[in-house]
Amino acid sequence: QRITMKDSFGRQINYLRISVTDRCNLRCRYCMPEEGIESKLGHEGVLSLEAFARVVRLAAQVGIRKVRLTGGEPLVRRNIPQLIRYIADVPQIDDIALTTNGILFAPMAEELKAAGLNRVNISLDSFKEDRFRFITRVGNLDQAKKAIFKALELKMNPVKINTVVIRGFNDDEILDFARLAYDYPLHVRFIEFMPVGDLLYWKKDRLMKTDEILEMVKKQFLLTRFKDIRGSGPARYYKAEGGKGSIGFISPMSNHFCAQCNRIRMTADGMIRGCLYDKREVNLRPSLENGSDEEILNLLIETITQKPARHMMDSGWGAKNERKMFQIGG
Ligand code: GTP
Ligand code: 5AD
Ligand code: SF4
Repeated sequence: QRITMKDSFGRQINYLRISVTDRCNLRCRYCMPEEGIESKLGHEGVLSLEAFARVVRLAAQVGIRKVRLTGGEPLVRRNIPQLIRYIADVPQIDDIALTTNGILFAPMAEELKAAGLNRVNISLDSFKEDRFRFITRVGNLDQAKKAIFKALELKMNPVKINTVVIRGFNDDEILDFARLAYDYPLHVRFIEFMPVGDLLYWKKDRLMKTDEILEMVKKQFLLTRFKDIRGSGPARYYKAEGGKGSIGFISPMSNHFCAQCNRIRMTADGMIRGCLYDKREVNLRPSLENGSDEEILNLLIETITQKPARHMMDSGWGAKNERKMFQIGG
């Protein structure tokens, strides 16, 4: 069965993001408090890999073609290669990706690739040891760097870097990141800082909008718009003349990409939601425990048809939303 689904605004929904755990081995300042968050889910709260695989099989029947695993940090969950193998067995799925902080990636990379992972987005906000430690509180920069070079070595394609730009913290490294995308076949994406997650670190003047970053990069590199990149996420990409990779911008604060949004998301405890910023969730769990495939299919269809037109972040989402970024998976 090969059907595709449009939501009530005509958007083709073909991308499922699965947060496989709400736990993380880092404590990024903008995301989690220092003491971490006691996982609310515990072992029984979290879906089994088999339950995730079942959802993917069914989601494929209503048009999902691409699956991304996120967290928390997805690689802190045991046996992720097994989940990837399950997903790779679903014939309609043609893209399996991972968003990771990279800490655990390099030693597992070969196994992940053999399981069917085709590509990876690695988060890295600074190339300076002390800053990396400051922002992640506990991270080891070498491990994150190794992740990037391992992914390149394994020819995962594309390899993307997610860099949250924070004024006064890493804005003086923007050109270094751009240079990295010039020297290597890497796709560096500058992300606007959003008032979500742990709001203690958020400040309005720490936000640096895409236009300003773009101007900075344009002074050093001759940029042209560039479309042909795998993964039709929210970023807009440019190629620097002569460069090997590309430079992308994710602009949730200055430019709604909601009109092109193609995704639904699922949390580790089996809630499925149409939008990162929409509180409405559908609980798949009871049906996964003792319902039929048909029941689950109907819930998936309901989520897709209920997907809101655009996000409501400006109305104070970060403060009011009861679920945090690390629980939904970005
Ligand atoms: P590709 O498939 O490679 O295009 O990935 P992606 O950009 O969709 O995924 P990734 O997990 O790397 O996300 C990068 C950044 O985009 C993170 O900061 C996410 O929180 C943010 N992001 C992803 N999806 C959405 C969304 O629907 N809305 C908003 N506002 N931000 C999003
Ligand atoms: N603003 C912007 N990006 C964020 N991320 C997490 N929290 C925020 C925030 N408040 C990013 C991470 C990672 C991606 C999945 O989401 O740094 O790159
Ligand atoms: Fe972990 Fe990502 Fe949050 Fe950092 S931003 S603490 S890596 S979930």
